[in-house]
Amino acid sequence: MTAAPAGLLADDAIAAPVRAPGATIAGTGHYLPPGRMTNADLEQTMDTSDTWIRERTGIRERRIAGPGETTASMAVEAAHLALADAGRTPADIDLCLVATCTPDQLLPSAAAFVAERLGLRGGALDVGAACAGFVYALVSASAMIGMGGIRAALVIGSETLSRIVDFSDRSTGMLFGDGAGAVVVCPTRDGAPGERPPVPGGLLAWDLGCDGTATGILGIPAGGSRLPTSAETVAAGLHTIRMDGPEVYRRAVRAVVESVNVTLARGGVTPDQVDVFIPHQANARIIDAVLPRLGIAEGRTISNIGEYGNTSAASIPIALSEAQRSGRLHDGDLVLMTGFGAGMTWASALLRWSSTGA
Ligand code: ACO
Repeated sequence: MTAAPAGLLADDAIAAPVRAPGATIAGTGHYLPPGRMTNADLEQTMDTSDTWIRERTGIRERRIAGPGETTASMAVEAAHLALADAGRTPADIDLCLVATCTPDQLLPSAAAFVAERLGLRGGALDVGAACAGFVYALVSASAMIGMGGIRAALVIGSETLSRIVDFSDRSTGMLFGDGAGAVVVCPTRDGAPGERPPVPGGLLAWDLGCDGTATGILGIPAGGSRLPTSAETVAAGLHTIRMDGPEVYRRAVRAVVESVNVTLARGGVTPDQVDVFIPHQANARIIDAVLPRLGIAEGRTISNIGEYGNTSAASIPIALSEAQRSGRLHDGDLVLMTGFGAGMTWASALLRWSSTGA
């Protein structure tokens, strides 16, 4: 793991050994609530315009959870689809990680509510790394699978950001949306020596990091132990997201470029070898800014920000699931995912895709 504010990455970060994949994605699924909020709708609640939002962010509309929907309920919908895709049932799941910054309650975890609805009995916990959370959780689950004793893990990114966004705040209100994506992660099938599957899939390399000097540029000030909820905090709107957008933008571009380069180096892969690039969907301009710096072609990059906005920890698994369903992923493809978010956290993962999950 790397954590170095100046230059972001330690000098010897690339020296981490690359091992044979020990865990792989065996199935994907995603859920988007049917409710839509267009830019024209937002023009009614804040001083903005459809043209400004599209030009500055690439967002046209976002999905909004209905009254009965929560982070856990959307996570369960995505999980059912991922389990079906992987040919597994809840009884096969020994670990459930839910990446989210919008849990149903502060206590217990969203993962506990997912476990309740799916009837899971294994370990269940939330991963709090904001928009980098899904990749953090994927790497964590893969590492835990590598220790043995886990037949399959559910790794979910699910967010109900519409419940923590102030739709009258024009520095944040146009960016966020709701949704969930899930994957089933399994041990890579090992076979006898020389008998590995023809296209072994799995996690090849990763990078996780956090620059804690940036905690002040993006967050929800109240509602935790630092500033408990009170009538005053609610009146001041401190229970909603606050963000220094331009500073997040600058740091995000730098973090993504460095983290991706380290991950590719660790995997022994050059940018032109990446078949499918799935960046966190925060802002189309951030994606446009990092592509030439990385040398990854736009045609190999997945972008759905126009339809869903920024769904934080859910954006990468939603995009991954959509890419699989639309035929963008092929056996043997090198898939690169990268996320960044409040903290400031970042996380990248390089994996080889295999439709057999092995
Ligand atoms: N509608 C219309 N005009 C606006 C709006 C709006 N919603 N917001 C700002 N403006 C105006 C400003 O007043 C300013 O006007 P001026 O030039 O007359 O003074 C102008 O637009 C530029 O304002 P900036 O704040 O500099 O706008 P910027 O181009 O930086 O875009 C944005 C703002 C979209 C928020 C951008 O900074 C951004 O996307 N940042 C990154 C956000 C992000 O990636 N977050 C990810 C993490 S989220 C997580 O972890 C949960």
